[in-house]
Amino acid sequence: MQQTKAVKASREWKKASIVKDFEGSAIERISKEWMLVTAGDKDNYNTMTASWGGVGYLWERAVVFAFVRPSRYTYEFMEKSDRFTLTFFDKSLKAKVHKICGSESGRDIDKPKATGITPIHFDDDTISFKEASAVIICKKLYFDDFKPANFLDREIEKFYQQQNYHRIYVGEVERFYKK
Ligand SMILES: Cc1cc2nc3c(=O)[nH]c(=O)nc-3n(C[C@H](O)[C@H](O)[C@H](O)COP(=O)(O)O)c2cc1C
Repeated sequence: MQQTKAVKASREWKKASIVKDFEGSAIERISKEWMLVTAGDKDNYNTMTASWGGVGYLWERAVVFAFVRPSRYTYEFMEKSDRFTLTFFDKSLKAKVHKICGSESGRDIDKPKATGITPIHFDDDTISFKEASAVIICKKLYFDDFKPANFLDREIEKFYQQQNYHRIYVGEVERFYKK
């Protein structure tokens, strides 16, 4: 399903420092507020809710970690794209955005239309949403797939009853925008 075409991001977005201006605990924000993982370009992109991920430091760069199962439509866009974004919303928008983006597939519905959020693109053609409060623009540096033989705690297997092992993406933080 074609998603609503993205419009150019307005000047309300201010460049900020991921080190100094990412407010609160990343664990708290990702696990409780959730975020959208979005990849593609203004003509063809997809987005999905994620509550697993991270913000950290690797190879002397600020990085993020995103985990995407191959069954997600978003995975196809993560594979095709050099960049992806992590988008955060204020709590008031959580239900509206993530109820749909975390359960429906972009294969079947136009998520921006269904949720009422407005897709925007930055100059490098990365995609986020006008109603968001913060966006991390990331360049893909590395990927790998979880290997069941490497799970050192058997408890983890309960998340993979269909062997749908996540692909991990390490993305360099290229830019961080806040409203
Ligand atoms: C709270 C929440 C967190 C989620 N976290 C992830 C995640 O980290 N990785 C993942 O692959 N799917 C995650 N999902 C599932 C996807 O968001 C969901 O399957 C979505 O419908 C995929 O959409 P798509 O097919 O358009 O990519 C999560 C869902 C919810 C509700």
